[in-house]
Amino acid sequence: MLYVEILGNLPEMARDEVKAMLELAGGGIVGQDYLFLKVKADEKAFPYLDRLGLAHEYGELIVEADSIEELLQKAKEVEWSINGTFKVDTETMANCRHNVRDLPRKLGAVIHSQGFRVNLSKPDTLVRVYCGEKVYAGIRYRFFDPKDFERRKAHNRPFFRPISLHPRVSRALVNLTKATREILDPLMGAGGILIEAGLLGLKVYGVDIKPEMVEGAEVNLRHYGVKDYELRLGDATRLEELFSGKKFEAVATDPPYGTAATLAGRKRDELYRGVLRSIYNVLEDGGRLAIAFPTSFDGKSEAEKVGFRMLGRYYQRVHKSLERYFYVFEKCSKQ
Ligand SMILES: C[S@@+](CC[C@H](N)C(=O)[O-])C[C@H]1O[C@@H](n2cnc3c(N)ncnc32)[C@H](O)[C@@H]1O
Repeated sequence: MLYVEILGNLPEMARDEVKAMLELAGGGIVGQDYLFLKVKADEKAFPYLDRLGLAHEYGELIVEADSIEELLQKAKEVEWSINGTFKVDTETMANCRHNVRDLPRKLGAVIHSQGFRVNLSKPDTLVRVYCGEKVYAGIRYRFFDPKDFERRKAHNRPFFRPISLHPRVSRALVNLTKATREILDPLMGAGGILIEAGLLGLKVYGVDIKPEMVEGAEVNLRHYGVKDYELRLGDATRLEELFSGKKFEAVATDPPYGTAATLAGRKRDELYRGVLRSIYNVLEDGGRLAIAFPTSFDGKSEAEKVGFRMLGRYYQRVHKSLERYFYVFEKCSKQ
């Protein structure tokens, strides 16, 4: 059994990102305790879990218990497979119902009695305890260092535009489409979504109506080592003409929210409707679209009119004057 600790700011989106990756890997979420997900999967899932954007870490779940006493008892009965030295580290989640104050010392003693050495300053293995409704202990396999994502935030890119999603969110949008080969962002801006997709090894296709964006996105992609890209100057409402005959496996995009500068002279809702229609026409049957819209636009019914089916919708308040939903849609084939 594995575990994934998801981030708390978009928890439903984070959970569905894990679910999407496990659908690709052949596994599933079998339990949830606040931000702690219990996952049934084997090591074949690691390359997919390594893609995650909205996760803190994942690892192997070793014991699960209803009380501290039970956890310690169970910990004595299992064989811990620790590499080198170890340290016990506790995560007290907001719903923690147990007193875990002495737990690191007590669990450390149990594991130590099986012949493993403690190193508090530089352990080779981190034993993680999670306290929620229940208590869990596991071995961390992978930590998603926020610094890795920080490096790709808008202000750290060579071509800088302030309107850009956080790289973790961009990564999650890509993953929610379940893309394994390629992805299109028809309103790519500075290329934030395409950078995340490219780093996963996907071929990336991008479109923007402004020449400086097409040039800037290319500078950014190259800066982060993404080489397999095709960028076009053009209109996201006319993708059929830009990519004649091509059908895409997946689309992820973040349309402009309505300032005159980014809408390139169009009425906002008209642009959104045109973009949805055109994306539908260039997506493969069953292909997924991940897209953000302000809450003032009814993305669900507009997308359904075009022929999409909604798979998920996640609310985010960005600031006083911007609230949005991230949507995941699937293209249903026209009968
Ligand atoms: C919000 S930005 C995208 C930001 C991007 N997702 C990122 O994270 O860097 C939207 C982009 O859509 C472009 N745009 C606006 N209307 C367009 C249209 N009709 N066709 C293609 N691009 C368009 C704008 O030039 C702008 O660069």
